[in-house]
Amino acid sequence: MTYSRIVGTGRYLPERVMTNFDLEKIVDTTDEWIRTRTGVERRHVCAEDQTTSDMCIEAAKIAIEDAGVDVSDIDLIITGTTTPDLIFPNISTLIQHQLGIPVCPAFSLEAACTGFIYALTTADKFIKAGETKCALVIGAECITKLVDWSDRNTCVLFGDGAGAVILKSSEEQGIISCHLGADGQYKDLLYYPVGASKNLAVAGTDAAAIMMSGNEVFKVAVKTLGRIAAETLEKAGVTKEELDWLVPHQANIRIIQAMAKRLNMPMEKVILTVQDHGNTSAASVPMALDVGIRDGRIKPGHLVLMEAFGGGFTWGSVLMRL
Ligand code: COA
Repeated sequence: MTYSRIVGTGRYLPERVMTNFDLEKIVDTTDEWIRTRTGVERRHVCAEDQTTSDMCIEAAKIAIEDAGVDVSDIDLIITGTTTPDLIFPNISTLIQHQLGIPVCPAFSLEAACTGFIYALTTADKFIKAGETKCALVIGAECITKLVDWSDRNTCVLFGDGAGAVILKSSEEQGIISCHLGADGQYKDLLYYPVGASKNLAVAGTDAAAIMMSGNEVFKVAVKTLGRIAAETLEKAGVTKEELDWLVPHQANIRIIQAMAKRLNMPMEKVILTVQDHGNTSAASVPMALDVGIRDGRIKPGHLVLMEAFGGGFTWGSVLMRL
């Protein structure tokens, strides 16, 4: 039986850090409001001339080194992102070229904050089908470039970054099960109103801003994430008590606390980065995973549940042994 296993991780965060106190100077908000309602204390913001692929390349270099593989070993690149450099060519080809990765399938996919979970699930299928031996899988976002810095409802939430993993085929079990879902009936609760074939002319104007019904998103997120976590464990025949770590999408500390409660997991078993990173959309899960592994909390053999929820709505979970 062929499995896929994560054998290396990396992350990149832009240099510029913006604290809640910095935001107090821009919009009518307070550090106290942001911290208590969201858990965010600071976030990294990419430079004006910095692109998503720039961040991906830095995160990927670290993951490649961590995995001890050579770029010539990589035979698949998938990047989950909502904020690619260009509409085309796809961002994975830009990363491929910059890193000198030989000819291989390279594509991006967009599932908002669930982008990395979708990308990892797809790479797992390629490996299990025998098509791929060593995949570079990335979640990355320059989401602050979409933010309306005069809208206090949204500008306090987001941050930029990139997380990368190397996923290799293995006889040892790594990824145990993946579960993806989406329900387009919720498309109007969270969206960005500009795309390649719609409203392109308003890009760069005040009309181009993240639209979010925060309260509604919150409710559906908590309900959906709780349900998929239970389904994931049940399908894998794993009990809540067996889980070593929860690595959740870092949208809001209160959503994460609700999830941990449903799983009977103390917060000590949850990797939290929301305070330092904010919501980095598709980058949040791979960056949190990297944080947990590098600081020695997540160890080889540990059972880890990763999950995410985002615009669409889309959602997904991956249960794995490191
Ligand atoms: N600073 C101060 N006050 C703010 C504020 C800010 N940055 N943003 C909103 N407010 C105000 C609102 O205007 C509102 O004031 P009002 O009662 O006078 O109208 C009040 O705070 C409460 O707003 P509300 O939207 O009900 O707050 P909330 O407790 O739902 O928290 C979110 C707002 C956005 C933090 C929360 O709904 C959330 O995190 N939702 C999920 C978002 C998410 O996960 N998005 C990404 C999905 S991947």
